[in-house]
Amino acid sequence: VQVKHVHRTGFHFQPPKNWINDPNGPMHYKGVYHLFYQYNPKGAVWGNIVWAHSVSKDMINWEALDPAIYPSKPFDINGCWSGSSTILPGNKPIILYTGIDPNKRQVQNIAIPANLSDPYLRQWIKPDFNPIVVPAIGINSSQFRDPTTAWFYNGHWNILVGSRRKDRGMAYLYRSKNFKYWVKAQHPLHSSPNTGMWECPDFYPVSVNSKNGLDTSLNGPSVKHVLKASLDLTRYEFYTIGTYNLTLDKYNPDSGLVDGWDGLRYDYGNFYASKTFYDPIKKRRILWGWSNESDSQQDDIKKGWAGIQAIPRKLWLDSSGKQLVQWPIEELDILRGKKVEKSNVKLNKGDNVEVNGITAEQVDVEVIFSFSSLDKAEKFDPSWVNAQNLCGQKGSDVQGGVGPFGLLTLASENLEEFTPVFFRIFKAPNKHVVLLCSDARRSSLDKNLYKASFAGFVDVNLSNKKLSLRSLIDHSVVESFGAEGKTCITSRVYPTLAVEGNAHLYLFNNGSEVITVENLNAWSMKSPHMN
Ligand code: FRU
Repeated sequence: VQVKHVHRTGFHFQPPKNWINDPNGPMHYKGVYHLFYQYNPKGAVWGNIVWAHSVSKDMINWEALDPAIYPSKPFDINGCWSGSSTILPGNKPIILYTGIDPNKRQVQNIAIPANLSDPYLRQWIKPDFNPIVVPAIGINSSQFRDPTTAWFYNGHWNILVGSRRKDRGMAYLYRSKNFKYWVKAQHPLHSSPNTGMWECPDFYPVSVNSKNGLDTSLNGPSVKHVLKASLDLTRYEFYTIGTYNLTLDKYNPDSGLVDGWDGLRYDYGNFYASKTFYDPIKKRRILWGWSNESDSQQDDIKKGWAGIQAIPRKLWLDSSGKQLVQWPIEELDILRGKKVEKSNVKLNKGDNVEVNGITAEQVDVEVIFSFSSLDKAEKFDPSWVNAQNLCGQKGSDVQGGVGPFGLLTLASENLEEFTPVFFRIFKAPNKHVVLLCSDARRSSLDKNLYKASFAGFVDVNLSNKKLSLRSLIDHSVVESFGAEGKTCITSRVYPTLAVEGNAHLYLFNNGSEVITVENLNAWSMKSPHMN
């Protein structure tokens, strides 16, 4: 039975009902994209975890198959938790996942396809020699999980397993010649004090001179590596870009990049337990991430579902080498329906201009804003190190110099409800500081919700006096990409009035500098076949 509910998404990945969390083992095999994910077959709260399985030709339309991996053996009888896939030579996929054993220990297992000629890979076999990795003495057996995709070098397969030792978060390194016998390396690949448990680590190469992705085992002179961890304590992820030293078997973040909550983030909003994979068909690296609900558990039970996956994003290294850039996969464009276009619209201070003629609750909108000068930019206070706090202080209705300007998404007609996504530009001694904010505080009249003022800084060159913004608006999601994907923010919101035919989209400016909408394209989005 399809659950009907005003906050159900139209084009984001979700099953017909029940709880979902982490994306698991994404891969491409014989013309088919596979997505597995953490799923509770019995309800809309976390529990009874299996690997649900869906397949797709385009990562937009999805067909649900039966769960691929579910508790059935002593080594996973209490749960089949997160993991990854690796394509072994000869085009042989293999899954690594965390099983919860009878003693509630977290152990690492493998599963292999029963039938390689089935492109849907419906059936998976768990060899009896599982588990292949158990927590060694000195490792906390309840903090040892989420094996990565394996990479190969020098005669060995390598994987990471997320863990912690006291407050130090870490990624243990294991090696194997045959994928069966695994040996722990003497040192973790990387660790960092005071970051707590590292869930869902991800480690992969990126090209320094191309937007193309690289297969996970690739290394060489024009390659950097990315290490990502999801921090259980904060429910945020961070990543660093760095060098993978093969001789020492260590990863070192580039200077200036930091581990932990002050580090770089894929997404400054509700986005967690993400995982990338290499798509050999379009030679790109794709990022999947889970966006949890931010309503109450009672609401989730009432609506019968909880959790979505964010739109898959292509990801590459920015030309500066200092951060990653992300953009929704190009296949999303197949859902673009009726288009509305605007150009050269002036936004004076206090203006709200409606974008008419679209389904504002399910829309893809791209805007380029420009301004003639930065002279009016507000002074930046160097104590403003935390973007989210700054957004909390300077919301969309706090008047400024250059900005706040942007979109009011999922707005009710008289603005009782709206989720603003906006820029604000500050002047620091030798540079400008750009803030992108996705502020849920006014998103709903419902009081029983988590309404965060998510925000991130945008490291962008303003010499052309332009800033771009793309937002994917989908009933209870606003997923935004600032400055062509340099800063991304996903918010989950639950309007009471701005639903179905009653949602509106506005452009706004609350700064004294006049803002020009150079160009706006908005497409009402069709709904794909979704599981
Ligand atoms: C992250 C996580 C993983 C674990 C899984 C269990 O959200 O806690 O560390 O494997 O979810 O569902």
